Amino acid sequence: MRKILLLGASGYMGGKFKASLTKGNFQTLSPSRAQVNYCNFEVLRKYIRENEGIDFLINAAGFTGKPNVEQCEIKREETIQGNLLLPQMLSNLAALEDFRWLQIGTGCIYNGDNGGKGYTEEDEPNFSFKYNNCSFYSGVKAVAETLLREDSRCYVARLRIPFDEKDGPRNYITKLLTYRKTYDNINSISHIGDYVRACINLYVNNCPTGVYNITNEGSVSTREVVGMIRELLNPNRKFTYFTDDKEFYRIAKTPRSNCVLNVRKIAGLGLPMRNVKDALKDAIENWVPANLK
Ligand SMILES: NC(=O)c1ccc[n+]([C@@H]2O[C@H](COP(=O)([O-])OP(=O)(O)OC[C@H]3O[C@@H](n4cnc5c(N)ncnc54)[C@H](OP(=O)(O)O)[C@@H]3O)[C@@H](O)[C@H]2O)c1
Repeated sequence: MRKILLLGASGYMGGKFKASLTKGNFQTLSPSRAQVNYCNFEVLRKYIRENEGIDFLINAAGFTGKPNVEQCEIKREETIQGNLLLPQMLSNLAALEDFRWLQIGTGCIYNGDNGGKGYTEEDEPNFSFKYNNCSFYSGVKAVAETLLREDSRCYVARLRIPFDEKDGPRNYITKLLTYRKTYDNINSISHIGDYVRACINLYVNNCPTGVYNITNEGSVSTREVVGMIRELLNPNRKFTYFTDDKEFYRIAKTPRSNCVLNVRKIAGLGLPMRNVKDALKDAIENWVPANLK
């Protein structure tokens, strides 16, 4: 049985990976930071050596900011430590102990749709420190990804705006159901089940390491998602939108990325991502409200 070390299992995405790995044919080790301070090189190396035969590491740990990314502007140390230093440390450890690993990356190092084509894995991030137009979180993530490109053992799996059928404060559909006012934009987004499956398949199928866009195929506007929510869930509320960026940025202080990613690379490996509207329909039709869990 393959032995997988999962970091960050106490978090939103880590919890989703843990649930999926537990159902699959994997032995999963998922120590919390409190149990094993996995941000410390020597501590983690000792843990890995004691738990001999770790085949793969998934890093779902990182600093995302609560309640939102604006916190990363304030908590810069944590942002750098969790999103740049930790991945770099894992990269060194993977080389020393010789295992492949996966880092959850992000699409929010881009802004725009690249003339309708979507950004590929080879396009230079354009929402980054270099362009001086980004949030601190996105800037750090872009630096981290650039460095991980040099790591021949690493998969960087770019996630973007996660959602599934389980109501919860981190789910995009829940966010749209609860925001007082909504910001209309066009994005590529990731169905969590599809994303986690693709990540695990990259490893299981022994795919080439490197950067992968793992969003559902195509893009969708916020208004379209709200339209589907209204049609399929018929929530008892009105949806209102910010009139323009000017109004949005009177409330939001940090620049936000809106972007479309191109998913041809992962499809080319025989791991196609289903269309975004099909994935959304699936999640909304199978919606599990929080009070029913
Ligand atoms: N959710 C999204 O919308 C989204 C989108 C794109 C990419 N991502 C990326 O996906 C990864 C996981 O995100 P998430 O939404 O699951 O985050 P999350 O729910 O905030 O969970 C973060 C996890 O990382 C650990 N952690 C927090 N601060 C840390 C630090 N400074 N150093 C090391 N570990 C730390 C937490 O452990 P404790 O319980 O010990 O605090 C927790 O297990 C991150 O790399 C994030 O950038 C997320």
